[in-house]
Parts: sequence; C-alpha cells; structure tokens
Amino acid sequence: MARLPEGVEVAEGDLSVPETLERALTGIETVFLVWPFLTSNGASAILATIASAARHLVYLSSSGVNEDAERQTDPINQLHADMESLIEASGLEWTILRANTIASNALGWAGQIRDGGVVRGPGIAPTAVIHQRDVAAVAVRVLTSDKHASAKYVLTGPQVLSRAEQVRMIGEAIGRPLRFERVPVQVAREQMLADGRPPALVEALLASAETRPHSDLITSTVEEITGAAARTFREWTVDHADDFR
Ligand SMILES: NC(=O)c1ccc[n+]([C@@H]2O[C@H](COP(=O)([O-])OP(=O)(O)OC[C@H]3O[C@@H](n4cnc5c(N)ncnc54)[C@H](OP(=O)(O)O)[C@@H]3O)[C@@H](O)[C@H]2O)c1
Repeated sequence: MARLPEGVEVAEGDLSVPETLERALTGIETVFLVWPFLTSNGASAILATIASAARHLVYLSSSGVNEDAERQTDPINQLHADMESLIEASGLEWTILRANTIASNALGWAGQIRDGGVVRGPGIAPTAVIHQRDVAAVAVRVLTSDKHASAKYVLTGPQVLSRAEQVRMIGEAIGRPLRFERVPVQVAREQMLADGRPPALVEALLASAETRPHSDLITSTVEEITGAAARTFREWTVDHADDFR
C-alpha cells in the first residue's frame, strides 16, 4: 500500500476485475490511470467502467511512443500506443502523460549496491530520467484543472544520463564509489530475476533495452505545467540515499 498523507481516502480495486472498481469510482470525476500489465487485454472493459462514472482520465504513458509509427519498436511502447488509442476512443475526456524513464527504477539496483560496488545490467541508451515527484506534480495540476483535455505531454528530466552516470551519482550520494557494468543479455536476465522482477516484465524490459533508439530529448513541460524546474537526478539520489545504504 502506498504511503499517503493523512486525510487521503483509500478505495481498493483490482484493474484486472472491472466490477471491483465500481465502489472506488463512486463520486469520482477524474481518474489517474496507471496500467500495470504488459498488454492492453482487458483495458476496454476497465475504460468502460471508468467512463460510466468519471468524466476525465489522465493516463501514465511512455515518452517512447512514436505517434507516426504503425508499430512501436518495443513491447512496452506498443502497450502504451495501444492504450492511448483505446483511451481516445473511450468517450472520456483524456490527458496523456508520456513520461520518460522514471528515476525510481534505480531502486531496483539497491540490492546490488548494498552487496558491493558494481551494478550489472543490460546496455540501454542514455535518457533524461525524470524524478517521480515531477510526474506526480504534473499529474496533480492536470487532474485538478480543465485546461488539459486532449493534450499529450512528454515529460522528461533536465539532463540526459547513462546508466553508468546514474550509478556513479548514487555512489556520490552515499559516499561510496560505485560503477555500472554492462553485461550480455543472458547475464542481465539472471540479475534482473535475482533482483526480484517478474519474468514477463524482465523479458519486456530486455526487449526495450535492446531496441529503444537513443534519444537526447529534454522537454520543458514539467516547468511549464508546475511552474518549477524539473528536479535533477542528483536531487533524486539525495532524496533516496538511505534506500541504498
Ligand atoms: N517506470 C518507468 O520508468 C515508467 C516510465 C513511463 C511509463 N511507465 C508506465 O507506468 C506504469 C507503471 O510502471 P511502474 O514502473 O510504476 O510499475 P510498478 O512500480 O510495478 O507500479 C505498478 C503499480 O500498479 C499497481 N498494480 C499492480 N497490479 C494491479 C492491479 N491488478 N490492480 C490495481 N493496481 C495494480 C501496483 O500496486 P502495488 O504496489 O500495490 O502492487 C503498483 O502501484 C506502466 O504502464 C509503465 O510502462 C513507467
């Protein structure tokens, strides 16, 4: 269960069982949808349930979605392209937040960092990782205003960073030298499974790592919507240093 501030009302539902959402949606006008599955199977029924109660849907998508491509280059972006199409056809007002790689993915390295000074993983193109608080800050603005209907926002952090640079910065935050070691796909698979990631997710992430094109894209959307500059990865490492100690 997420840690939420006092006063937040929690209503549980299972996104694989539409009926369980009905009570959670009572009296709700706006929904923030995070889709935790690797395909869009079952999404139509969930969207219909949401549309029967709410007016506006804000969806967490991926910055890798290529609007102009018939098929996306990897399964995770294909999932989000499929979800975006279903949402646009759902009859709901919608806003799409296409987030770049979220910095908190690095928490998956915590076990390796506690055990030693080397993080092993697949090679993946550098990218402008975004602090999860900035995704949340944008979501709050978009959820609480009528100004963002039919917008697709690409959200990135302020700096393109490789895995090696991210790992080095975590080391600086915890006062211990760390390095990233790129390993072959089979070794990366074993490591990701050992880190506790579900097997189907590991395969999707590896396919994405291998095929995702290099992107230097940095957008100013976080600042335009929230009024504050996007947080740096260095700030993220300070916020999360204790998670790696
Ligand atoms: N991570 C990134 O870099 C990134 C970037 C852009 C877009 N995205 C997209 O964001 C989505 C979430 O990714 P993530 O990395 O945040 O994954 P995550 O950390 O695994 O979070 C998934 C969330 O979904 C909840 N959940 C799982 N099964 C559920 C179910 N049956 N019913 C209701 N809730 C359920 C989980 O709740 P519990 O914690 O209670 O299990 C958790 O809060 C994915 O679609 C991903 O592609 C991620």
